[in-house]
Amino acid sequence: MSTGHGPTPSIDFDHPPADPLPLFEQWFAEAQKLATPNPNAMTLATVDADGAPSARIVLLREISREGARFFTNRNSRKGKALAANARAALLFHWDLLDRQVRIEGRVTLATDAESDEYFAHRPVDSRVNAWASDQSEPVASRAELERRAEEMTRRFAGGDVPRPPHWGGYRVSLDRVEFWQGDKYRLHDRVVYVRGGDGGYRVQRLCP
Ligand SMILES: Cc1cc2nc3c(=O)[nH]c(=O)nc-3n(C[C@H](O)[C@H](O)[C@H](O)COP(=O)(O)O)c2cc1C
Repeated sequence: MSTGHGPTPSIDFDHPPADPLPLFEQWFAEAQKLATPNPNAMTLATVDADGAPSARIVLLREISREGARFFTNRNSRKGKALAANARAALLFHWDLLDRQVRIEGRVTLATDAESDEYFAHRPVDSRVNAWASDQSEPVASRAELERRAEEMTRRFAGGDVPRPPHWGGYRVSLDRVEFWQGDKYRLHDRVVYVRGGDGGYRVQRLCP
């Protein structure tokens, strides 16, 4: 139901749906209709072994009841943080819709079969470059990076490019999901879903 504010009619925050996933899917579909390049871009926040937070953008590749999935290099800075502390926060900001979605949960690794399947669909140059880049490690120059990419291109020339063992998927469970709809006079609407032990969600409206 529309609340009448915002560029796209929103939901009735006084009577939100019982489950966050269909609502996320609705908002995501509306974000995908906009002419912005990466509606699936989300900030991924992690906390390392020392308790220090860090954040970066990754792309959402799939979302289901089991969680939100992205792919990356598991030896990267984020990969090391997630190995030490398997919890993460995700943040979407769809500025043209005046909307924000926050997801928080526990992080699990995709299976090898799931990572293989996604990797196989990537363009060949992306697959080669997954081998060429030691993500988050220092590199002397652009020329050095290109030299490594050429070396990997030669190595895999004419053959299949398998998934590097350190490259794969992660899934963030939907333990806490918050939807925020901006209001022009700052009386924003917020609704939060917190998953209980039985798998069901407690739903609460929050003050802006
Ligand atoms: C729009 C956008 C999309 C990105 N998508 C991904 C992604 O899906 N996976 C990834 O590993 N890095 C992605 N990156 C790069 C990351 O932001 C980051 O630079 C990289 O993963 C290294 O992060 P780390 O050193 O914290 O591990 C993306 C960057 C931007 C700006």
